Amino acid sequence: MSSQENQPTVRTVQSTQSEMTEIVLPNDTNTLGNLLGGRLMHFIDLTGAMAAYRHARTHVVTASMDHIDFIQPVRLGDLVMLRSSVNRAFSSSMEVGVKVWAENTRTGAIAHVASAYLVFVALDERGGLQKVPQLQPETPDEMRRYGDALRRREHRELENARRKKERSEIAGMKNAGPLEP
Ligand SMILES: CC(C)(COP(=O)(O)OP(=O)(O)OC[C@H]1O[C@@H](n2cnc3c(N)ncnc32)[C@H](O)[C@@H]1OP(=O)(O)O)[C@@H](O)C(=O)NCCC(=O)NCCS
Repeated sequence: MSSQENQPTVRTVQSTQSEMTEIVLPNDTNTLGNLLGGRLMHFIDLTGAMAAYRHARTHVVTASMDHIDFIQPVRLGDLVMLRSSVNRAFSSSMEVGVKVWAENTRTGAIAHVASAYLVFVALDERGGLQKVPQLQPETPDEMRRYGDALRRREHRELENARRKKERSEIAGMKNAGPLEP
């Protein structure tokens, strides 16, 4: 029997909620003692994947990470706290929102430092696309994120099509050989 049999067809946002807390160590920082952007993106990817795994209950891969703003630096010794949940499920893909805060361990002050939206795609044991359960938003905030996720998906699809066209044009130029002097 496959692990997908007897799976529910609908899940709640709450059942996908995930979190992770890390302490920022010297190896995670740049020369100013701030958390490296790439390290933070790694934490965001991992926390996002946890929510996607909880929703899909199968293999997931990151298909995209949207625009991300680093609102303020996270300092060496801070606690970095990440929370994620699935905003909306489509066919094999899910949009996950991740929010990040930093806590100063001496003062206890907490600041919102970054947010990101990621798309994860569910795959079966053979690497083929796997359908995921639908998501049932329950609270007003969950319903707002559910609606916004569809608009972001439409925007992503337009952008993906534009980039695909750009790549094929560049490939066409390369195949045409070097430009004549
Ligand atoms: C993501 C991946 C599985 C999509 O495969 P594909 O054959 O292009 O699939 P399709 O075009 O049929 O799309 C399948 C789903 O993925 C979504 N998708 C594909 N590319 C996407 C992108 N760039 N951004 C967001 N969603 C994307 C589609 O919207 C579709 O969702 P739906 O099933 O819910 O409608 C494939 O591109 C892949 O394996 N990428 C590498 C993933 C990886 O290794 N990630 C780690 C980081 S390097």
